[in-house]
Amino acid sequence: MANTDSRVTIHMVASLDGFVARKDGSVDWMETSDEFAGGETMDPGFVEAFLKTIDCYVMGSRTYETALSFEAKGLGWSYGDKPTFVLTRRDLPRTRNSVEFYSGDLTQLVNGRLRPSFRSIWFVGGGVVSGECLRLGLADEVRYSILPILIGDGIRFFERLDSDVALHLREVKAYKSGMVALSYEVRGRSGES
Ligand SMILES: NC(=O)c1ccc[n+]([C@@H]2O[C@H](COP(=O)([O-])OP(=O)(O)OC[C@H]3O[C@@H](n4cnc5c(N)ncnc54)[C@H](OP(=O)(O)O)[C@@H]3O)[C@@H](O)[C@H]2O)c1
Repeated sequence: MANTDSRVTIHMVASLDGFVARKDGSVDWMETSDEFAGGETMDPGFVEAFLKTIDCYVMGSRTYETALSFEAKGLGWSYGDKPTFVLTRRDLPRTRNSVEFYSGDLTQLVNGRLRPSFRSIWFVGGGVVSGECLRLGLADEVRYSILPILIGDGIRFFERLDSDVALHLREVKAYKSGMVALSYEVRGRSGES
């Protein structure tokens, strides 16, 4: 039985043309240098407090591998000590106790296991897992942060969507960096139990 207080959010950062990484998985294009005079400044204190409201993360194995490579380069681990569920059918290195691997039915993981235990459940990519989450009707909210760049080709925010998904625009914020953060409610999701 799903916890009715729980909320599943999909969040990623994308180029204006809708890609979250290049075809080879690289995200070098995320270092943009725009300036939007009328934009808000991201307050580190607010970001830190906001991150504390997230109770667990879910990600695909390729996103996990990218996170491990960032960590190996000394760029740190972005998910703190929050429980992090990595979807994979492979044997991957587990570098911290907060990481748990899961293989199989995503609906069972979300509705059977995560919703009863966590309030704020964040799917942090990549495109394959975001697409799967929406196709299965599991998401309540999509947060889409657009960077001021076009990259032409790559991995889409939502891979393999097979039908329309109606959304309700809830919030728009533009930042000094030129990033626009869009927040949508997913309307008519079919994954509730
Ligand atoms: N711009 C951003 O904000 C952002 C955020 C996150 C990621 N990214 C980028 O996106 C890229 C990765 O995205 P992606 O779409 O290629 O891959 P992904 O969604 O991260 O991972 C897909 C993999 O997850 C595993 N998987 C998915 N569903 C599963 C299930 N139900 N059970 C078990 N395993 C399951 C499979 O891996 P196995 O082969 O291991 O079974 C699948 O190949 C990376 O380059 C990353 O840097 C960007």
